[in-house]
Amino acid sequence: MEKLTVATAVQPVPPSFLMRILARFRLLTLLFAGLPFAHTADAQPLYWACNGCHGPNGISVGEHIPTIAGLNYRYFYATMQAFRKDRRKGSSMGWIAKGYKSDQLQQIALYSGTQPWVGKLEEVDPRLAQRGQVLHAEYCEECHEQNGRFQDKETPPLAGQARGYLLYQMQDYRAAAHQMPQPALMQERLEKLSDADLIALSEFYAGSLTREYQDSAPPEPAFRGE
Ligand code: HEC
Ligand code: HEC
Repeated sequence: MEKLTVATAVQPVPPSFLMRILARFRLLTLLFAGLPFAHTADAQPLYWACNGCHGPNGISVGEHIPTIAGLNYRYFYATMQAFRKDRRKGSSMGWIAKGYKSDQLQQIALYSGTQPWVGKLEEVDPRLAQRGQVLHAEYCEECHEQNGRFQDKETPPLAGQARGYLLYQMQDYRAAAHQMPQPALMQERLEKLSDADLIALSEFYAGSLTREYQDSAPPEPAFRGE
């Protein structure tokens, strides 16, 4: 990522030329610098391999499987590398990520980043969700802004993410700090919370209370969230 400033100075060039440069020099940073479109179409077949679990077009239909469409592409790519290098704990994703090369993971990440984030609105227990809202405001809003709708290159969206997945993740972050990349502050805050608190938070993120910001502050498209 340190070469980003050089790469961002590059002006748009014809896709065929770009492909040749990429093939020859593997200027991977270019892919991250606003010139990814030549590659996103190629990524679609790669992405189909993910849909069996992650749902049609990467939008989850299961409670314990995350939606991946519309995640910020940098977060997506870093997460796949973390799975691949066993820096992030996962039930399935470790071996799946190891089946791909870095440039394929970049293509998938860029493809996903062009999709809109589709948060699911679920039926939740309103009392739990309200408790979750209070906990969120106190411990989480600082980074997971806009009631968890915010996302950027480091921070994944929480609002509308699969509820059971979020709960498992929070438990893993809390219990397996050394196997889950996370800011120290997040670890400290999760450590203070009980299982009941985590359930309340996952209800909050799955429910309509997170929508309070929807009209006033639409989330950044995944591609622009830096
Ligand atoms: C066998 C089912 C399965 C397949 C196939 C699969 N995944 Fe996953 N994925 C999961 C599960 C389960 C998780 C939650 C972490 C874990 O337990 O591994 C996950 C988590 C993720 C995450 C983390 C999401 C977040 O919010 O941090 C990303 C990114 C991801 N998968 C991308 C992919 C991509 C890209 C593919 C295709 C190349 C893929 N997955 C294929 C099951 C699958
Ligand atoms: C200091 C900033 C910060 C704070 C405070 C914080 N988080 Fe996070 N959170 C992050 C970052 C950064 C990540 C991505 C970590 C990674 O790279 O895997 C994350 C990831 C997550 C994820 C995983 C989502 C996914 O798609 O896999 C969950 C769930 C989560 N945070 C919940 C919370 C909750 C609940 C709180 C409050 C108790 C909280 N976070 C507080 C920064 C923060």
